[in-house]
Amino acid sequence: MTARDIQLDDQGRLRHFLTTEGLPRELLERMLDTASSFTGVIEKSIKTVPLLRGRTVINLFFEASTRTRTTFELAAKRLSADVLNIDVGTSATVKGESLLDMLRNLEAMQCDMFVVRHADSGAAHFIAEHVGNDLAIVNAGDGRHAHPTQAMLDMYTIRRHKRAFEPLRVAIVGDILHSRVARSQIHALNALGAGEVRVVGPRTLLPRHVDRLGVQVYHDITAGLRDVDVIITLRLQRERMQGALLPSEQEYYQLYGITQERLALAKPDAIVMHPGPINRGVEIESAVADGPQSVILNQVTNGIAVRMAVMSMCLEGRGASVQEGG
Ligand code: CP
Repeated sequence: MTARDIQLDDQGRLRHFLTTEGLPRELLERMLDTASSFTGVIEKSIKTVPLLRGRTVINLFFEASTRTRTTFELAAKRLSADVLNIDVGTSATVKGESLLDMLRNLEAMQCDMFVVRHADSGAAHFIAEHVGNDLAIVNAGDGRHAHPTQAMLDMYTIRRHKRAFEPLRVAIVGDILHSRVARSQIHALNALGAGEVRVVGPRTLLPRHVDRLGVQVYHDITAGLRDVDVIITLRLQRERMQGALLPSEQEYYQLYGITQERLALAKPDAIVMHPGPINRGVEIESAVADGPQSVILNQVTNGIAVRMAVMSMCLEGRGASVQEGG
């Protein structure tokens, strides 16, 4: 079953959120609009709505996370859902229980959603294929494949600062090869009609045939950053690198680090983004990360509203009404 088939029900509503690839523009725009209504909610002094009261969300993180796990938990709580965080390190999988047996036991507790992060590409899709119809699966990052909620919070951040996607030139800089974030961003930017999407990096950190994803490829950072509206810089994913793809972090910084000097190549009102965690002095200069054009912490804040939107949309066809959130 394709990712699109498994993600949408027969009325085109979101059942699971596994990847931005193949999803229609209207659905992504509705996600951003729904997130916008939730931003209004979480900026109030009472930050909760009863939309998912009585629903249970389980966070299943098989890989480390700060931003994603925490903002999923906050998002679920803002929607009044019950949230459980499974400590995979102390779960029965360490006693030899298989992943599927563990999931079936959690499913037997009649929960409504699993939020899954896993080091293996395809893990969330695999789980979605093996759970019952009542359970929604949200991919919180699988291997180097996809990180769809990160991409959508990035789209939300871009739209808040730049309004329309059509006139924009967006440069994604760095380790595209190992980045699930970059893949999900490229699909989302193209679906939303971004004018030009560039990937910028050394040959060793760009996937073969990356141009087939609908991007312009640059190896020269000076050309790649010229006149762009948005710079998205990425962490070097050392944990996914096999062999020596880079001479050293210092050399990478000299060639591809986002410095104040390089930022000046972009449009004067360009914004600088990073999904985090950032490595100062490796992919970005501190003066840029903390500077007036950086929206890196806004991305984190926006993650709560976007994850509220994703959760409510996935459970919408199962009894939750998104309008209640607005
Ligand atoms: N951006 C991101 O996925 O961060 P975490 O690994 O902290 O969740």
